[in-house]
Amino acid sequence: MSSSPPIEARKPPLSRLASCGGCAAKMAPGDLQRMVKGLPARAPSPALLVGTETGDDAAVYRLDDHQALVVTTDFITPVCDDPYLYGQVAAANALSDVFAMGGRPLVAVAVCAFPEALDPDDAAAICAGGADKAAEAGAVVAGGHTVRSPELFYGLAVTGHVHPDRVVRNVGARPGDALVLTKPLGTGVLINGFRSGRLEADALAAACRLIAKLNDRAARLMLAHDAHAATDVTGFGLAGHALGMARGSGVALRFFPERFPTYDGVLPLIEAGVRSKGGTTNRQTFEAHVQITGAEPNARELLVYDPQTSGGLLVALPAANATAFLSALHEEGMTAAAQIGEVVAEGGSDRRLQLA
Ligand code: CO
Ligand code: CO
Repeated sequence: MSSSPPIEARKPPLSRLASCGGCAAKMAPGDLQRMVKGLPARAPSPALLVGTETGDDAAVYRLDDHQALVVTTDFITPVCDDPYLYGQVAAANALSDVFAMGGRPLVAVAVCAFPEALDPDDAAAICAGGADKAAEAGAVVAGGHTVRSPELFYGLAVTGHVHPDRVVRNVGARPGDALVLTKPLGTGVLINGFRSGRLEADALAAACRLIAKLNDRAARLMLAHDAHAATDVTGFGLAGHALGMARGSGVALRFFPERFPTYDGVLPLIEAGVRSKGGTTNRQTFEAHVQITGAEPNARELLVYDPQTSGGLLVALPAANATAFLSALHEEGMTAAAQIGEVVAEGGSDRRLQLA
Protein backbone atom coordinates (compact mmCIF):
# COMPACT_ATOMS: atom_id res chain seq x y z
CA MET A 1 0.00 0.00 0.00
CA SER A 2 1.51 3.35 -0.96
CA SER A 3 1.18 6.17 1.51
CA SER A 4 -0.95 9.08 0.31
CA PRO A 5 0.60 12.56 0.13
CA PRO A 6 -0.19 14.99 2.95
CA ILE A 7 -3.59 16.54 2.46
CA GLU A 8 -2.14 20.02 1.79
CA ALA A 9 -0.05 18.71 -1.12
CA ARG A 10 -3.00 16.87 -2.62
CA LYS A 11 -5.64 19.54 -2.17
CA PRO A 12 -5.07 23.12 -3.29
CA PRO A 13 -7.16 25.51 -1.18
CA LEU A 14 -10.22 26.59 -3.17
CA SER A 15 -9.27 30.26 -2.97
CA ARG A 16 -6.05 29.44 -4.91
CA LEU A 17 -8.18 28.13 -7.80
CA ALA A 18 -9.51 31.59 -8.69
CA SER A 19 -7.84 34.97 -9.16
CA CYS A 20 -10.71 36.84 -7.49
CA GLY A 21 -13.26 35.91 -4.82
CA GLY A 22 -17.06 35.63 -5.08
CA CYS A 23 -19.10 38.31 -6.80
CA ALA A 24 -15.99 40.51 -7.04
CA ALA A 25 -15.12 38.45 -10.14
CA LYS A 26 -18.06 39.95 -12.01
CA MET A 27 -17.51 41.61 -15.41
CA ALA A 28 -16.99 45.39 -15.04
CA PRO A 29 -20.36 47.19 -15.21
CA GLY A 30 -19.27 49.45 -18.09
CA ASP A 31 -18.13 46.48 -20.21
CA LEU A 32 -21.34 44.63 -19.45
CA GLN A 33 -23.44 47.62 -20.51
CA ARG A 34 -21.53 47.90 -23.78
CA MET A 35 -22.05 44.21 -24.47
CA VAL A 36 -25.80 44.28 -23.77
CA LYS A 37 -26.27 47.47 -25.85
CA GLY A 38 -24.45 45.78 -28.76
CA LEU A 39 -26.97 42.94 -28.91
CA PRO A 40 -29.22 43.08 -31.98
CA ALA A 41 -32.70 44.45 -31.20
CA ARG A 42 -35.43 41.84 -31.43
CA ALA A 43 -39.20 42.20 -31.53
CA PRO A 44 -40.20 42.00 -27.86
CA SER A 45 -42.26 38.99 -26.87
CA PRO A 46 -45.52 40.07 -25.19
CA ALA A 47 -44.98 37.21 -22.75
CA LEU A 48 -41.67 38.64 -21.53
CA LEU A 49 -42.80 40.82 -18.61
CA VAL A 50 -39.24 41.64 -17.45
CA GLY A 51 -36.20 41.48 -19.74
CA THR A 52 -32.92 43.37 -19.75
CA GLU A 53 -34.43 46.91 -19.79
CA THR A 54 -33.62 47.95 -16.23
CA GLY A 55 -30.91 45.42 -15.34
CA ASP A 56 -33.36 43.60 -13.09
CA ASP A 57 -32.43 40.50 -11.09
CA ALA A 58 -34.21 37.93 -13.25
CA ALA A 59 -36.32 37.60 -16.38
CA VAL A 60 -40.06 37.10 -15.92
CA TYR A 61 -42.01 35.19 -18.57
CA ARG A 62 -45.79 35.08 -18.41
CA LEU A 63 -47.43 31.69 -18.94
CA ASP A 64 -51.05 32.69 -18.31
CA ASP A 65 -53.07 35.08 -16.14
CA HIS A 66 -51.95 33.33 -12.96
CA GLN A 67 -48.46 32.04 -13.58
CA ALA A 68 -45.17 33.50 -14.74
CA LEU A 69 -41.73 31.93 -14.77
CA VAL A 70 -38.78 33.69 -13.08
CA VAL A 71 -35.53 32.71 -14.80
CA THR A 72 -31.98 33.58 -13.73
CA THR A 73 -28.44 32.29 -13.43
CA ASP A 74 -25.55 33.22 -11.17
CA PHE A 75 -22.19 31.51 -10.63
CA ILE A 76 -19.25 32.71 -8.57
CA THR A 77 -15.61 31.96 -7.75
CA PRO A 78 -14.84 30.54 -4.27
CA VAL A 79 -15.62 32.76 -1.31
CA CYS A 80 -13.73 30.56 1.17
CA ASP A 81 -11.73 27.32 1.33
CA ASP A 82 -14.57 25.18 2.73
CA PRO A 83 -16.16 23.55 -0.34
CA TYR A 84 -19.55 22.78 1.23
CA LEU A 85 -19.89 26.33 2.55
CA TYR A 86 -18.84 27.77 -0.82
CA GLY A 87 -21.57 25.67 -2.50
CA GLN A 88 -24.11 26.99 0.01
CA VAL A 89 -23.14 30.62 -0.53
CA ALA A 90 -23.14 30.24 -4.33
CA ALA A 91 -26.58 28.65 -4.32
CA ALA A 92 -28.06 31.22 -1.92
CA ASN A 93 -26.62 33.93 -4.16
CA ALA A 94 -28.24 32.43 -7.28
CA LEU A 95 -31.60 31.72 -5.62
CA SER A 96 -31.69 35.28 -4.31
CA ASP A 97 -32.48 36.76 -7.73
CA VAL A 98 -35.78 34.83 -7.75
CA PHE A 99 -36.65 36.07 -4.26
CA ALA A 100 -35.75 39.65 -5.26
CA MET A 101 -38.52 39.49 -7.91
CA GLY A 102 -41.05 38.31 -5.30
CA GLY A 103 -40.93 34.77 -6.74
CA ARG A 104 -40.42 31.25 -5.36
CA PRO A 105 -37.70 29.00 -6.79
CA LEU A 106 -38.82 25.62 -8.17
CA VAL A 107 -35.99 23.89 -9.98
CA ALA A 108 -32.33 24.60 -10.71
CA VAL A 109 -29.45 23.16 -12.71
CA ALA A 110 -25.85 23.52 -11.61
CA VAL A 111 -23.23 25.46 -13.59
CA CYS A 112 -19.78 24.04 -12.79
CA ALA A 113 -16.41 25.21 -14.15
CA PHE A 114 -13.96 22.96 -12.30
CA PRO A 115 -10.14 23.07 -12.60
CA GLU A 116 -8.19 19.82 -13.04
CA ALA A 117 -6.53 20.53 -9.69
CA LEU A 118 -9.86 20.51 -7.82
CA ASP A 119 -10.09 17.46 -5.59
CA PRO A 120 -13.11 15.31 -6.65
CA ASP A 121 -14.25 15.13 -3.02
CA ASP A 122 -14.22 18.92 -2.88
CA ALA A 123 -16.21 19.06 -6.14
CA ALA A 124 -18.77 16.73 -4.60
CA ALA A 125 -18.92 18.84 -1.43
CA ILE A 126 -19.49 22.04 -3.44
CA CYS A 127 -22.40 20.43 -5.27
CA ALA A 128 -23.82 19.00 -2.03
CA GLY A 129 -23.72 22.44 -0.42
CA GLY A 130 -25.60 23.88 -3.39
CA ALA A 131 -28.19 21.12 -3.46
CA ASP A 132 -28.83 21.38 0.30
CA LYS A 133 -29.26 25.15 0.07
CA ALA A 134 -31.69 24.76 -2.86
CA ALA A 135 -33.67 22.22 -0.82
CA GLU A 136 -33.82 24.69 2.08
CA ALA A 137 -35.31 27.19 -0.39
CA GLY A 138 -37.94 24.65 -1.48
CA ALA A 139 -36.25 23.99 -4.83
CA VAL A 140 -34.53 20.97 -6.34
CA VAL A 141 -31.26 20.77 -8.26
CA ALA A 142 -32.20 18.53 -11.16
CA GLY A 143 -28.91 18.32 -13.06
CA GLY A 144 -26.28 20.61 -14.45
CA HIS A 145 -23.25 20.94 -16.65
CA THR A 146 -19.53 20.77 -15.91
CA VAL A 147 -16.54 22.03 -17.88
CA ARG A 148 -12.80 22.04 -17.17
CA SER A 149 -11.64 25.59 -16.50
CA PRO A 150 -8.47 27.22 -15.15
CA GLU A 151 -10.67 29.17 -12.70
CA LEU A 152 -13.16 27.61 -10.32
CA PHE A 153 -16.80 28.68 -10.73
CA TYR A 154 -19.97 27.21 -9.30
CA GLY A 155 -23.56 28.37 -9.32
CA LEU A 156 -27.10 27.65 -10.40
CA ALA A 157 -29.48 28.47 -13.21
CA VAL A 158 -32.76 28.79 -11.36
CA THR A 159 -36.35 28.71 -12.55
CA GLY A 160 -39.04 29.95 -10.21
CA HIS A 161 -42.59 31.15 -10.38
CA VAL A 162 -44.53 34.26 -9.47
CA HIS A 163 -48.03 35.60 -9.99
CA PRO A 164 -47.81 37.99 -12.97
CA ASP A 165 -49.46 40.75 -10.91
CA ARG A 166 -47.16 40.25 -7.90
CA VAL A 167 -43.77 40.80 -9.58
CA VAL A 168 -41.51 43.13 -7.58
CA ARG A 169 -39.21 44.93 -9.99
CA ASN A 170 -36.04 46.90 -9.29
CA VAL A 171 -37.96 50.01 -10.41
CA GLY A 172 -41.08 51.63 -8.98
CA ALA A 173 -39.57 53.38 -5.93
CA ARG A 174 -41.44 56.59 -5.05
CA PRO A 175 -40.28 59.76 -3.28
CA GLY A 176 -41.05 59.38 0.42
CA ASP A 177 -40.43 55.61 0.43
CA ALA A 178 -38.17 54.11 3.07
CA LEU A 179 -35.13 52.08 1.95
CA VAL A 180 -34.50 48.93 3.96
CA LEU A 181 -31.49 46.62 3.61
CA THR A 182 -32.03 43.11 4.99
CA LYS A 183 -28.43 41.84 5.39
CA PRO A 184 -25.08 43.41 6.37
CA LEU A 185 -22.55 44.83 3.90
CA GLY A 186 -18.88 43.99 3.54
CA THR A 187 -18.55 40.53 1.94
CA GLY A 188 -16.06 41.78 -0.67
CA VAL A 189 -13.77 43.21 2.00
CA LEU A 190 -14.03 40.04 4.13
CA ILE A 191 -13.23 37.70 1.23
CA ASN A 192 -10.31 39.83 0.14
CA GLY A 193 -9.14 40.28 3.73
CA PHE A 194 -8.87 36.49 3.92
CA ARG A 195 -7.19 36.17 0.52
CA SER A 196 -4.59 38.74 1.54
CA GLY A 197 -3.91 37.04 4.89
CA ARG A 198 -5.54 39.70 7.08
CA LEU A 199 -8.57 37.65 8.16
CA GLU A 200 -8.48 34.19 9.78
CA ALA A 201 -10.21 31.29 8.01
CA ASP A 202 -12.45 30.76 11.06
CA ALA A 203 -13.67 34.35 11.01
CA LEU A 204 -14.42 34.10 7.30
CA ALA A 205 -16.24 30.77 7.77
CA ALA A 206 -18.38 32.31 10.52
CA ALA A 207 -19.28 35.19 8.20
CA CYS A 208 -19.96 32.79 5.31
CA ARG A 209 -22.58 30.96 7.37
CA LEU A 210 -24.44 34.29 7.62
CA ILE A 211 -23.72 35.18 3.99
CA ALA A 212 -25.31 31.83 3.01
CA LYS A 213 -28.63 32.82 4.61
CA LEU A 214 -31.49 32.81 2.12
CA ASN A 215 -33.50 35.88 1.21
CA ASP A 216 -36.70 33.80 1.20
CA ARG A 217 -38.28 35.19 4.35
CA ALA A 218 -37.20 38.73 3.57
CA ALA A 219 -38.96 38.38 0.21
CA ARG A 220 -42.14 37.05 1.77
CA LEU A 221 -42.14 39.92 4.29
CA MET A 222 -41.51 42.60 1.65
CA LEU A 223 -44.59 41.36 -0.25
CA ALA A 224 -46.63 41.49 2.96
CA HIS A 225 -45.50 45.11 3.49
CA ASP A 226 -46.32 46.41 0.00
CA ALA A 227 -42.81 46.82 -1.41
CA HIS A 228 -42.74 49.22 -4.36
CA ALA A 229 -39.35 48.04 -5.66
CA ALA A 230 -36.59 45.64 -4.66
CA THR A 231 -33.27 44.24 -5.79
CA ASP A 232 -30.62 42.13 -4.13
CA VAL A 233 -27.31 43.87 -3.51
CA THR A 234 -24.62 41.79 -5.22
CA GLY A 235 -21.54 42.30 -7.40
CA PHE A 236 -22.08 45.95 -8.35
CA GLY A 237 -22.36 46.89 -4.69
CA LEU A 238 -25.00 49.03 -3.03
CA ALA A 239 -24.08 51.93 -5.36
CA GLY A 240 -24.52 49.95 -8.58
CA HIS A 241 -27.76 48.24 -7.68
CA ALA A 242 -29.23 51.35 -6.04
CA LEU A 243 -28.35 53.42 -9.11
CA GLY A 244 -30.33 50.98 -11.27
CA MET A 245 -33.29 51.42 -8.94
CA ALA A 246 -32.95 55.23 -8.88
CA ARG A 247 -32.63 55.65 -12.65
CA GLY A 248 -35.38 53.20 -13.52
CA SER A 249 -37.71 54.77 -10.96
CA GLY A 250 -36.90 58.38 -11.94
CA VAL A 251 -35.90 59.26 -8.37
CA ALA A 252 -32.81 59.87 -6.22
CA LEU A 253 -31.86 57.84 -3.15
CA ARG A 254 -30.49 59.31 0.08
CA PHE A 255 -28.48 56.93 2.28
CA PHE A 256 -27.36 57.25 5.90
CA PRO A 257 -24.00 55.41 6.02
CA GLU A 258 -24.03 55.51 9.86
CA ARG A 259 -26.93 53.06 9.68
CA PHE A 260 -25.30 50.61 7.27
CA PRO A 261 -25.26 47.15 8.87
CA THR A 262 -21.83 45.49 8.50
CA TYR A 263 -20.39 42.04 9.08
CA ASP A 264 -18.04 41.75 12.07
CA GLY A 265 -14.54 42.97 11.30
CA VAL A 266 -15.36 44.78 8.05
CA LEU A 267 -14.70 48.36 9.12
CA PRO A 268 -11.26 47.65 10.65
CA LEU A 269 -10.28 45.84 7.43
CA ILE A 270 -11.31 48.86 5.34
CA GLU A 271 -9.42 51.16 7.68
CA ALA A 272 -6.39 48.86 7.26
CA GLY A 273 -6.63 49.48 3.51
CA VAL A 274 -8.29 46.24 2.38
CA ARG A 275 -10.16 46.72 -0.91
CA SER A 276 -11.24 44.36 -3.67
CA LYS A 277 -10.78 44.52 -7.42
CA GLY A 278 -14.54 44.60 -7.90
CA GLY A 279 -14.87 47.39 -5.33
CA THR A 280 -12.30 49.48 -7.17
CA THR A 281 -14.06 48.93 -10.51
CA ASN A 282 -17.42 49.74 -8.91
CA ARG A 283 -16.02 52.97 -7.47
CA GLN A 284 -14.57 54.03 -10.84
CA THR A 285 -17.89 53.29 -12.53
CA PHE A 286 -20.37 54.74 -10.03
CA GLU A 287 -18.47 57.49 -8.20
CA ALA A 288 -19.78 60.15 -10.57
CA HIS A 289 -23.29 59.31 -9.41
CA VAL A 290 -22.60 59.47 -5.69
CA GLN A 291 -22.70 62.69 -3.70
CA ILE A 292 -20.77 62.77 -0.43
CA THR A 293 -20.29 65.54 2.10
CA GLY A 294 -16.52 65.22 2.64
CA ALA A 295 -13.72 65.36 0.09
CA GLU A 296 -12.93 61.63 0.37
CA PRO A 297 -15.35 58.86 1.34
CA ASN A 298 -14.81 57.45 4.85
CA ALA A 299 -14.78 53.70 5.62
CA ARG A 300 -18.56 53.45 5.91
CA GLU A 301 -19.11 55.46 2.75
CA LEU A 302 -16.67 53.19 0.88
CA LEU A 303 -18.97 50.27 1.66
CA VAL A 304 -21.36 51.44 -1.07
CA TYR A 305 -18.84 50.18 -3.64
CA ASP A 306 -18.07 46.86 -1.96
CA PRO A 307 -19.18 43.94 -4.17
CA GLN A 308 -21.59 41.74 -2.23
CA THR A 309 -21.91 37.99 -2.56
CA SER A 310 -25.35 36.73 -1.56
CA GLY A 311 -26.21 40.21 -0.27
CA GLY A 312 -29.50 41.30 1.23
CA LEU A 313 -32.56 42.78 -0.41
CA LEU A 314 -32.71 46.54 -0.86
CA VAL A 315 -36.42 47.28 -0.54
CA ALA A 316 -38.27 50.55 -1.24
CA LEU A 317 -41.59 50.56 0.57
CA PRO A 318 -44.08 53.11 1.95
CA ALA A 319 -42.46 54.86 4.93
CA ALA A 320 -45.57 54.09 7.01
CA ASN A 321 -44.82 50.34 6.65
CA ALA A 322 -41.10 50.53 7.45
CA THR A 323 -41.28 49.99 11.21
CA ALA A 324 -43.55 46.96 10.90
CA PHE A 325 -41.38 45.52 8.13
CA LEU A 326 -38.23 45.95 10.22
CA SER A 327 -39.77 44.37 13.35
CA ALA A 328 -40.94 41.41 11.28
CA LEU A 329 -37.46 41.01 9.76
CA HIS A 330 -35.81 41.17 13.19
CA GLU A 331 -38.32 38.68 14.61
CA GLU A 332 -37.54 36.22 11.82
CA GLY A 333 -33.82 36.35 12.57
CA MET A 334 -32.64 39.03 10.15
CA THR A 335 -31.35 41.03 13.08
CA ALA A 336 -29.04 43.24 10.99
CA ALA A 337 -31.87 44.56 8.80
CA ALA A 338 -32.00 48.35 8.94
CA GLN A 339 -33.60 51.35 7.32
CA ILE A 340 -30.54 52.74 5.56
CA GLY A 341 -32.11 55.53 3.55
CA GLU A 342 -35.06 57.14 1.84
CA VAL A 343 -36.27 57.86 -1.66
CA VAL A 344 -36.29 61.53 -2.70
CA ALA A 345 -37.27 63.41 -5.84
CA GLU A 346 -34.62 63.50 -8.53
CA GLY A 347 -32.61 66.68 -8.57
CA GLY A 348 -32.09 67.11 -12.31
CA SER A 349 -28.56 65.66 -12.32
CA ASP A 350 -27.40 62.06 -12.58
CA ARG A 351 -25.88 62.23 -9.07
CA ARG A 352 -28.79 60.14 -7.93
CA LEU A 353 -27.17 58.65 -4.83
CA GLN A 354 -26.62 60.91 -1.84
CA LEU A 355 -24.71 59.89 1.25
CA ALA A 356 -25.98 61.99 4.13
CO1 CO B 1 -29.63 40.34 -8.37
CO1 CO C 1 -27.43 37.86 -9.38
